[in-house]
Amino acid sequence: MYMCLCNGITESDVREAGRAGLVMPSQLKAKFDLKCNGCCGRCAKNIHEFVEVAVQGAAVSCSTA
Ligand code: FES
Repeated sequence: MYMCLCNGITESDVREAGRAGLVMPSQLKAKFDLKCNGCCGRCAKNIHEFVEVAVQGAAVSCSTA
């Protein structure tokens, strides 16, 4: 499922980022360039959704490690 249509970011991309340790809003915004020109701004506003998915990804990597 797409989390960001402007940048074509999927849930698994965000989970992957979480696994890599990116779980803070500022880290995720920087990683996925959510403040880019031409973006609708929806994702920057709903960054908590990205954080939730990233944290899930991070949790999965912990339990399987
Ligand atoms: S859908 Fe993510 S910035 Fe537009």
